[in-house]
Amino acid sequence: MAGPIRRIGVLTGGGDCPGLNAVIRAVVKTAINEYDWEVLGIEDGFEGLIQPGRVRQLTRADVRDILPRGGTILGTTNRANPFHYEVEVDGEVKVFDVSDDVVRHAQVLGMDALVVIGGDGSLHIAHELMQKGLKVVGVPKTIDSDLQGTVITFGFDTAVNTAMDALDKLSTTAESHHRVIILEVMGRDAGWIALKAGIAGGADAILIPEIPYDLDVVADKIARRNRGGAKFSIVVAAEGARPVDGKAVYQAEREIGGARRLGGIGEVLARQLRERCRVEVRVTVLGHLQRGGSPTAFDRLLASRFGTMAVHLIAQGKLGHMVALQDECIIAVPIAEAVAQQKFVPLNSDILLTAFGLDVCLGNSREVIEKMQAGE
Ligand code: F6P
Repeated sequence: MAGPIRRIGVLTGGGDCPGLNAVIRAVVKTAINEYDWEVLGIEDGFEGLIQPGRVRQLTRADVRDILPRGGTILGTTNRANPFHYEVEVDGEVKVFDVSDDVVRHAQVLGMDALVVIGGDGSLHIAHELMQKGLKVVGVPKTIDSDLQGTVITFGFDTAVNTAMDALDKLSTTAESHHRVIILEVMGRDAGWIALKAGIAGGADAILIPEIPYDLDVVADKIARRNRGGAKFSIVVAAEGARPVDGKAVYQAEREIGGARRLGGIGEVLARQLRERCRVEVRVTVLGHLQRGGSPTAFDRLLASRFGTMAVHLIAQGKLGHMVALQDECIIAVPIAEAVAQQKFVPLNSDILLTAFGLDVCLGNSREVIEKMQAGE
């Protein structure tokens, strides 16, 4: 690295999740305590490097008391990709490449390196900016836990606990009323939250994007429970779950700079199960409750370890790398590797075996799932 480091930047990009503030706090404290560097906080993800006046110095005082707080003190957005920056001009959406401006802005600010705390979208951008000369280190975050290279991301544990808590509560009311209750959880392409919260919360059926579901199989599970005397059932559906012969359900068209919004699978399933099983069905959509609130102890610790290590990586010149958890240790993996593909629930996961052992319906028959697993 050319010259000594004096000042680094930090930003949070993409959807928020519990633990972001714990990372920011660890970055600021480690940079000041261990290296005597200045830290600049960039507001609202890459938007803060696109627009002027959105950068402020972060001191120890700025990060006091933020460890237990959800959200991010810096703000975030999932709509500011500098390589594809969408702006509405006279009612028309125009796309600009402002990536050179971002690199220049960082230089003008005297930023020797930038810590990007983000999911695959933000880390992708970070990787591309690195090719343009911006020195970056990544910190993986996402409640979906679908990033390669790290066993887990912070935010996921809190989200799973929130969903499990909802399942505990829904189970008692479902049992009282002899109903089927469907809990729709987040999980665009990967079903980690649905699967882990579903097992932890005692769900009877869990539908994940990785296993297209067959409604007959789900209906049969509910009927078997009714015949067996358990006259209620709990179904967890990831928002990205889809039937074998159908598509995922979207609740809204794409907004400027954003992605098309998933949602509504719970209601679709409810209609179909009402008809098929002649049962009362209710739906709860957990939505952004999963992204808010105070991080669990696990997430606070992981986020703090990630933040501290990100600063050490800069000092070691390990730019273009992302901190990651592997075998109980925080290590560095190339950002390029981490964003090359998403991490889906593997069909040979022992968690699926657990589900089979517990007689949890995974949306399709065991034979079909085993054939999928064998690649047939
Ligand atoms: O971070 C990913 C995610 O939590 C997805 O599971 C979900 O589809 C999306 O964020 C929702 O994002 P938004 O905040 O834009 O509604």
